[in-house]
Amino acid sequence: MIEVAALTKRYGSFTAVRDLSFAVRPGEVLGLVGPNGAGKTTTLRCLAGIIPATAGTVRIAGHDVATEAVAAKRALAFFPDEPRLFDYLTVRQHLNFVGRLYGVENYEAIAGPLLTEFEIADKADQLPGELSRGMKQKLAIACGLLHGPRVLFFDEPLTGLDPLGIRRMKDSIARRAREGATIVLSSHLLHLLEEVCSHVLILKQGEKIANGAIAEVAARFSNGESRVSLEEVFIRATGGSER
Ligand SMILES: Nc1ncnc2c1ncn2[C@@H]1O[C@H](COP(=O)(O)OP(=O)(O)OP(=O)(O)O)[C@@H](O)[C@H]1O
Ligand SMILES: [Mg+2]
Repeated sequence: MIEVAALTKRYGSFTAVRDLSFAVRPGEVLGLVGPNGAGKTTTLRCLAGIIPATAGTVRIAGHDVATEAVAAKRALAFFPDEPRLFDYLTVRQHLNFVGRLYGVENYEAIAGPLLTEFEIADKADQLPGELSRGMKQKLAIACGLLHGPRVLFFDEPLTGLDPLGIRRMKDSIARRAREGATIVLSSHLLHLLEEVCSHVLILKQGEKIANGAIAEVAARFSNGESRVSLEEVFIRATGGSER
């Protein structure tokens, strides 16, 4: 469960996210969408406790990200848009290191299936410099899933993957939601987002324009049409002054 109340984030005098409130329940996948600079990455970083909010509260699995940071971080994983890895640790050493860092017992038994799921088992002894961009992304995700987080934040998880990689990533996300994880992901690939998300939140200049089940939000922007794509909803919701 993710509960966000009146979240505001300012960088100096610039307000990147303003008075944002929403909740995501176990089993739900929320797509965070909005134009470049709308505040998606800022929101995800605040939700994961990577940067402090200026005002408002974020609760992850019941724990306040600001005041119960360790408990909140044990429950969550954050996958940034640019995977950050250690240059001199191999794939296997990454998983060993992260497993020990999080105090995961029998992490080796968990790491094996993750390497297979993300198709990097044959790269176990390679360094990041020897991996492709998509493989680095998969390694970062395998590392983040090692401690069994119930709340997952993905910033642009589908960008840079090949078509099969995209399908596998969508399947991995959907499977974890079915198993009860609470998931938020940002993406500009709206046709793909539509396939994996149950809910959507549209941000524009740091403010919430719409939030709800995809069908509900689509109905709100449908102008009476029977079915409107998320892309069309996005354009109508964020497309300037006509609204
Ligand atoms: N560290 C920072 N210091 C100052 N301003 C920042 C900082 N990080 C982001 N911003 C500003 O906050 C706003 C929101 O940025 P953010 O990265 O959250 O957008 P985004 O929705 O993720 O965009 P994109 O789709 O391009 O990834 C932008 O105007 C950006 O310039
Ligand atoms: Mg971003």
